Amino acid sequence: MTEANERARAERESGEQRETKTAAPSPPPVVRRVADLRDATAGFRADGERIALVPTMGALHAGHLSLITHAARHAERIIVTIFVNPTQFAEGEDLDAYPRTEADDLAKLARLPVDLVYAPSPREMYPDRFATSVSVTGLTDGLCGTSRPHFFGGVATVVCKLFTQARPDIAVFGEKDFQQLLVIRRMARDLDLGVEVFGAPIVRENDGLALSSRNAYLDEKARATAPKLHALSVHARNLIVDGHAVPKVLAGLRSRLTEAGFAVDYAEVRHAETLSPLDIVGDAPARLFVAAVLGETRLIDNLPIERQRGWADQAPAHEPR
Ligand code: PAF
Repeated sequence: MTEANERARAERESGEQRETKTAAPSPPPVVRRVADLRDATAGFRADGERIALVPTMGALHAGHLSLITHAARHAERIIVTIFVNPTQFAEGEDLDAYPRTEADDLAKLARLPVDLVYAPSPREMYPDRFATSVSVTGLTDGLCGTSRPHFFGGVATVVCKLFTQARPDIAVFGEKDFQQLLVIRRMARDLDLGVEVFGAPIVRENDGLALSSRNAYLDEKARATAPKLHALSVHARNLIVDGHAVPKVLAGLRSRLTEAGFAVDYAEVRHAETLSPLDIVGDAPARLFVAAVLGETRLIDNLPIERQRGWADQAPAHEPR
């Protein structure tokens, strides 16, 4: 077993022991260099352990923590990455404002079965003269690919690097960024990266707002309005399930969102695997995708369109206020 591996295990075990004695378990060890990450993962692999990777940009919330719980079902070792990836932000987006809360993040991870945190610097990820990018076509057409054309190139490139650096067996991503999940899954398959990519369900506040690190940007008024994105989407989804015409329902959703104060980016129904636009929902797996800006904050959400409505997303038959 390597030194880093041994340290990781000792930290984890002493954390577990402390948890039973005191309320403050120690956070998982952090490595910042690819070489140290490789050292640790080589040790895990040598012990025959499966590795799960949970890539994040930090500012961890219950949605991220649920990814870790999901990962724990599939692997003995869990690595969380924390890296605010500059290449997925365009000029004028919120790269500088994006919350960076590493100490808080580590404290949250202390209570979970996380073996290692990989938190590289931008220079470690993108050394001088870095000149390569990964581009996934097709799935990146439309939805967030239209309003954020640089986004998926940046995501695919950094996730490809994380996968080749850590060589995990599995990786888990949230379904809130459903298009991102499909893009990463496609990339992993196309490039034979040997990583099984899992999606984990959206975690919501009690009022339905999908958890997102960017929710921290919402002021009090916007926070009160934000759950309408989900409520109005659920209402639209239910109309579609009840057989109403998709284009008409989407037009209604857009205008209700606008009335509520959102600047709508998109509201679309797409095939849940190919992301091709659907005007008619038949037997194909379909999803409703929405993105809208509230004040300065861009929010996204999506819902499955099932013939049988899921209890968790059931909305009252009347229109939400
Ligand atoms: O979803 C995110 O947090 C990011 O896009 C990801 C996948 C960690 C890549 O930077």
